[in-house]
Amino acid sequence: MSFNKYDLIIRNGLVASDDGTTAALDVACVNGKIEHIAASIDANSKAQIDAAGHLVLPGAVDAQVHFRDPGNTHKEDLASGSRAAIRGGVTSFLEMPNTSPPTINQQALDKKLARAAAHCVANFGFFIGATPNNLADINSVSPACGIKIFMGSSTGDLLVHKAADLEKIFKNGNRLIAVHAEDEQRLNERKKALLAGNPKISDLRIHSQIRDDQCALMATQQAVELSTAFSRRLHVLHLTSAKEVHYLRENKTEHITVECTPNHLFLTEDDYDKKGSLVQMNPPIRTQQDQDALWEGLKDGTIDFIATDHAPHTLQEKAQPYPASPSGMPGVETSLALMLTAWQAGRCSLEQVLKWMCRCPVETYGIKNKGLLAEGYDADLAIVNVDDYRIVQDADMFTKVRWSPFSGKELTGWTEWTVVGGRIAFSDGQINESVRGTALSFGD
Ligand code: DOR
Repeated sequence: MSFNKYDLIIRNGLVASDDGTTAALDVACVNGKIEHIAASIDANSKAQIDAAGHLVLPGAVDAQVHFRDPGNTHKEDLASGSRAAIRGGVTSFLEMPNTSPPTINQQALDKKLARAAAHCVANFGFFIGATPNNLADINSVSPACGIKIFMGSSTGDLLVHKAADLEKIFKNGNRLIAVHAEDEQRLNERKKALLAGNPKISDLRIHSQIRDDQCALMATQQAVELSTAFSRRLHVLHLTSAKEVHYLRENKTEHITVECTPNHLFLTEDDYDKKGSLVQMNPPIRTQQDQDALWEGLKDGTIDFIATDHAPHTLQEKAQPYPASPSGMPGVETSLALMLTAWQAGRCSLEQVLKWMCRCPVETYGIKNKGLLAEGYDADLAIVNVDDYRIVQDADMFTKVRWSPFSGKELTGWTEWTVVGGRIAFSDGQINESVRGTALSFGD
C-alpha cells in the first residue's frame, strides 16, 4: 500500500450518482479534487471518514444568500454565514449586493473578495448590483456571477424600476441578469391603500396582499419581455406564485432560468398565524395553491433550481410591529435537510434534489468542476444521515441571528461531515477553523 497517497478517503458511504442511484463506494481525494471512486480503495490517506450508514453527496450550491458584510454584521458576516452554510452541507454560495455599502463597483467587490478569502470556510462568489447609473461597472467588474436588479424595493437601497433604465441594462452587455421581480409602482400603491387607516397590524397576511401575486407577475413579465427582446440571459430569482409558473411555462426561452426558495416550498400564509413577521419576506410566502404550483414547476422544469435567499435579521428587529419589521429569514443551513426530508417523505426523488441543489445552480452560473460527485470534480462534499430525525431548534443554528423559520419542524438529512476542497470543514458538530473556501469563477 502506498504511503498517504491521498489527502482524504471517505469509506463505506453510499455514494450518490447524478441520476440519484447510490452505491457503496470509497471516494479518494487529493489536491482538492475527487481523484478516485471505487468499491474499495487500497491506499493510505492523511485523513479518513468512515461514512458507513451515510449518504455521500456533492456539496450543495446556494446561489442566493445575503451575508450582510459589510454594513450589517450584527445580523451575519461572511465568516458566520459561510459557517452556517457548511453546517448545512452547502459548500459554495453566491452572495447578493444589497450590503452597506452595496456591491456596485469593482472596489466594493474586491473588498468582499478579500474578506471572503480571509474568513469563509465555503467557496464564494458575488453578484454586482445594478443602479440606474452604473452600466459600465456592471458590465466590467470581475469576477461576478451576474448582475442583480431589484425591480421592486426590498432590504437596502438598490432599485432599478423605471422602464428606460431597465431597458438600458438589458440592451447593453451580455452577462447574466438576475431579477428580484416585484412591480415597484403596484407595491407602493397597494402599501398606501392597504396600510391607510390601519395603524395596528397584527395579521401579517397584509404583507402578502401588498406584494400580491399580480405584483410579482407584472415584473416577471417585464423581465421576460426584455430578455426576449434583447436575447439577454435572464435568471428569475425566488419565484412565488402560480400565476408566474403558468406564465413562465408558456413564455420561458432558452435564455431564461428560474429558481424558487425552500421558504415558498414549505411555508404558506397560514404560517403567519404561528410565526408572524418571522416569516415575512419579499416576495412573500403565499397560498397552498401557489406552493403546489411551485412544486409542479420544479418537477416539469419550469423552475430550474432551489436557492435559499438566506436573509437574516435579528429577533429584536423582527419583533418590531409591521410594517417596521424587516423582510427576510435565514435558511442556508436548513435547505438541504428540508429537501432530503421531502425526498424521504416521497415528495421528490434524490435525483431531483441533486439537480435542484447541486447541478442546475452550477450550470446556470457556469461554475466549473462543481455540483457533481465524479472523478476529476472538486472535492466539495456533504455526508448526510437520512435516518436521524431531529427537531429544528433556534439554539442549534450557526447563523449569527440564531433562529430558523423552520424551528419546531422535524427534519432528517442533516450533514455530519462537510468536505471543502478535499479537507474536512465540518465534523462532530464543529467547524474546522483552518479550512478556507476559494473564489468561484464563472463562465462569462
Ligand atoms: O425578504 C427579503 N429579504 N427579500 C429580499 O429581496 C432581500 C432580503 C434581505 O436582504 O433582507
